[in-house]
Amino acid sequence: MSEQTLACPVCRATLNQNGSNLRCDAGHSFDRARQGYWNLLLVQKKRSKDPGDNTTMVQARRDFLDQHYYQPLSDAVNTLAVDSLKDTHMPKVMDMGCGEGYYTDRLQQALVDNNSFPQLSALDISKHAVKAACRRNKQIQWMVASGADMPLPANSQDLLCVLFSRLMPEPFARVIKPGGQLLIAWPGEQHLIELRQHIYDEVRGSQFDPIAQLSEQFELTSQQQVSYPFTLQRQADIQALLDMTPHGQRLAGDKRARLDALDSLPLTLDVNLALLRKKPD
Ligand SMILES: C[S@@+](CC[C@H](N)C(=O)[O-])C[C@H]1O[C@@H](n2cnc3c(N)ncnc32)[C@H](O)[C@@H]1O
Ligand SMILES: [Zn+2]
Repeated sequence: MSEQTLACPVCRATLNQNGSNLRCDAGHSFDRARQGYWNLLLVQKKRSKDPGDNTTMVQARRDFLDQHYYQPLSDAVNTLAVDSLKDTHMPKVMDMGCGEGYYTDRLQQALVDNNSFPQLSALDISKHAVKAACRRNKQIQWMVASGADMPLPANSQDLLCVLFSRLMPEPFARVIKPGGQLLIAWPGEQHLIELRQHIYDEVRGSQFDPIAQLSEQFELTSQQQVSYPFTLQRQADIQALLDMTPHGQRLAGDKRARLDALDSLPLTLDVNLALLRKKPD
C-alpha cells in the first residue's frame, strides 16, 4: 500500500515515518496502534474521554451493513467516486467519519478495480470504529483523528468523502486540492420512514440543506437520489439498525416491544448523494 504523507495535527508540519512512529520536526510524536491505525487525536482537543460512536453503535453498524441491504447505495457512491477520479492517476482520497469502514473498504476495491492506484485514507473520531475498520482492509491508511482538524497537508486531496457524517465546510476546503471534489451522502425525506413512524409520534420533515451549508466554499457538480425498498429479514437486523443510531438506543417501552416482536420489516432507503467542487480561493 502506498500511504499518504500526513501533517502534524499540532503544528501542521510534515510527519516523517520511522517504523510505527510518526514525528514532525518540532518533535510531536504519534504511534501506530497494534491494530494498524495511526492515533492522531489530540487529547487536549477531545470534548469527551471517548468521543464519537460507542462500541454498541459500531458493532451494530458493522452487523447491519454486513447484511448488504445498503450495497446498492455503496455501489452508487463508488460509481460517483470512480467517475470523478477517472482522469487522476494515484488519487489521494480521504473518507472522513468513516465509521467501521464498510463504505471505505468497498470504495478501495472499486478504485483498484478501475486501475486508479488510490492512496486512500480514512479517519474517525471514534477509536472503536477505527479498530473495527482496520479489520476490514489493510490497504487503507486508517486513523483516529478529528474531521475538524484533519492531519493532512493543505490542498492535498483529490476527493473527500463524507458519508452520513457532520459537515465542516472550512476544514474540508482546507484539505481539498484546488479543483478537487467533495462527495457527500445524507438521508432523504423518506429514508427509513417506516422505522421513524414506529419510533416517533410525529415524523417531522428535515430542514437540513447541505448544499446551502457548503455554498461559501463549494459549488454543486451533480446530485442524485438513491431510493429503493428493502425488507429486513431477521429480528437481529432490526435490532442492529436500531442500535446503530442514537434514536434506537433511546427507544424503550411499548415501542421497543412492538419492534422486538417483528421477524421482518419492510423499509425504504432514500439517500441523497452530491458531488461538489471546491471554489477557487
Ligand atoms: C453516522 S456515522 C457514519 C459512519 C460511516 N460513514 C457510515 O456511513 O457507515 C458518523 C461517524 O462520524 C464520526 N464522528 C463524529 N464526530 C466526528 C468528528 N468530529 N470527526 C471525525 N469523525 C466524527 C462518528 O464516530 C461516526 O463514526
Ligand atoms: Zn508538530
